[in-house]
Amino acid sequence: MTLRVLLAVLPSLVVAIPSFNINLTAAPEVRWKGVTKYFRKDGLAALNEMQKRLKSSFSEEDVHNWVQGLKQERPEEEDYKRELKGIAKDLTLNDPWNEHDMYEKLLLFNAVYELEFSTGCSGLLAADLNGTVVHGRNLDFNFPYQMPDGSWHNWEDLTFNAVFYRDNINIQHKDDMEHQEDVMVAPMFAFVTGMHTGMRFGGWSFQQNTRHTNDHKKNLKELMNGGRIFPWTARYLLQHVKSFEEASKKLQSFHWAAPQYFVLGGAGQFEGAVITAGRGTETLNGETPPVQRIRNETGHWKLLQTNDDPNKESSDLRKPLGEMVLGLQQQKDVSSGFMWDNMLAPELKMESTVLTFVSIPQTGYWFTTLKDELRPLEQYYSIERMHRRYPPQHYPAPEYSDTTHKGSTSEVQTENASTKNVGATKWARRALLSE
Ligand SMILES: *[C@@H]1O[C@H](CO)[C@@H](O)[C@H](O)[C@H]1NC(C)=O
Ligand SMILES: *[C@@H]1O[C@H](CO)[C@@H](O)[C@H](O)[C@H]1NC(C)=O
Ligand SMILES: *[C@@H]1O[C@H](CO)[C@@H](O)[C@H](O)[C@H]1NC(C)=O
Ligand SMILES: *[C@@H]1O[C@H](CO)[C@@H](O)[C@H](O)[C@H]1NC(C)=O
Repeated sequence: MTLRVLLAVLPSLVVAIPSFNINLTAAPEVRWKGVTKYFRKDGLAALNEMQKRLKSSFSEEDVHNWVQGLKQERPEEEDYKRELKGIAKDLTLNDPWNEHDMYEKLLLFNAVYELEFSTGCSGLLAADLNGTVVHGRNLDFNFPYQMPDGSWHNWEDLTFNAVFYRDNINIQHKDDMEHQEDVMVAPMFAFVTGMHTGMRFGGWSFQQNTRHTNDHKKNLKELMNGGRIFPWTARYLLQHVKSFEEASKKLQSFHWAAPQYFVLGGAGQFEGAVITAGRGTETLNGETPPVQRIRNETGHWKLLQTNDDPNKESSDLRKPLGEMVLGLQQQKDVSSGFMWDNMLAPELKMESTVLTFVSIPQTGYWFTTLKDELRPLEQYYSIERMHRRYPPQHYPAPEYSDTTHKGSTSEVQTENASTKNVGATKWARRALLSE
């Protein structure tokens, strides 16, 4: 059944998560125009909430130091700061004084983890018998903010899929659109130009999780000391580093302002790792557990990471319960469906889960569901389709410019036709469905 037929026989579709194509060949300042326009109201309300929280629990001096620390030049970050300058300009209609102020607010908003506003998260890597690694991520983060009409919104109202592409003069096709190459995809929050989650097509996938030793006072000290926040660097690596191994090495080598976990899946056989990162030079002091890897030879075909050090006792039930449930499952059953089952099961899905992202770097599969949505239909994750390969140069090119909201043409129906449906880009549907 083609998608068109499928859509025709199912009732009312509601757009749940918008998707945007982001043009990496364009100047950083203009890349997010469409996103800024679409999320303007929610983004401004969320920035207000952040300002309130900063006022109530941070000294003015600390906030000033955070801004100065974030402004420090680091080659990997500069493009993404230029993007924020563009967003600030669009939000303030060329009012230079407000524009500068807005830019500083946006810098802070890009450091919500290091400012210690975030809470949970879980990640699961599983390799099938052939070594194809499937990566599931739940992002757990509660940040209620009030809209001008008095209603309360949360992260899910700021979430969208971003598919990044660049013009590639080496790809010659009759069709002009085929000159574009998709580089990576990420579920993102409006006004945040770094990444907490993402996948480089044909390369590797990434997520970051909270480590409980996170402490904004210590983070600020480390930031001033040359440490960096993670989201811009994560994006830089997804954008520029092709291989899982190199990305994994680089993530271990940076000087971070905050302690955290990185979960990485790869396109190669059995590529999967959990990196525990310390603040500053903690790694060298032996306080940080070693990298965990998927190793088929020793039967380690899955890795579950919540918010505890792998060598310490768990501080909540997700890890022990999750491990128990996974212990009853078999490697031969690993698929995207396996991953959806586990990520959306009660032991991992929380009240505060904003989104679930499942990706398979080897095949290019990806899908995002938002809080309260159902998982995608069986036909979107069947094993045959999971193993259909789309080398990057054959990905269908983006059909809309980066300023066009694609939500209304990008929905995919879920199991329950009478409730909310799941969004994906046309691109994702093409990768998941046979023609
Ligand atoms: C992407 O940006 C470049 C540089 O501005 C431009 O030449 C190109 O046409 C853009 N691509 C699309 C599909 O809009
Ligand atoms: C593993 O690869 C073989 C050969 O390509 C294929 O027949 C089989 O279905 C694959 N198994 C899984 C679990 O993907
Ligand atoms: C991975 O390990 C399983 C269980 O030992 C085995 O059946 C499978 O053949 C291994 N896969 C590869 C590609 O070595
Ligand atoms: C579908 O949603 C409706 C309304 O929320 C609910 O009553 C029904 O039980 C759901 N069906 C399934 C199969 O989940």
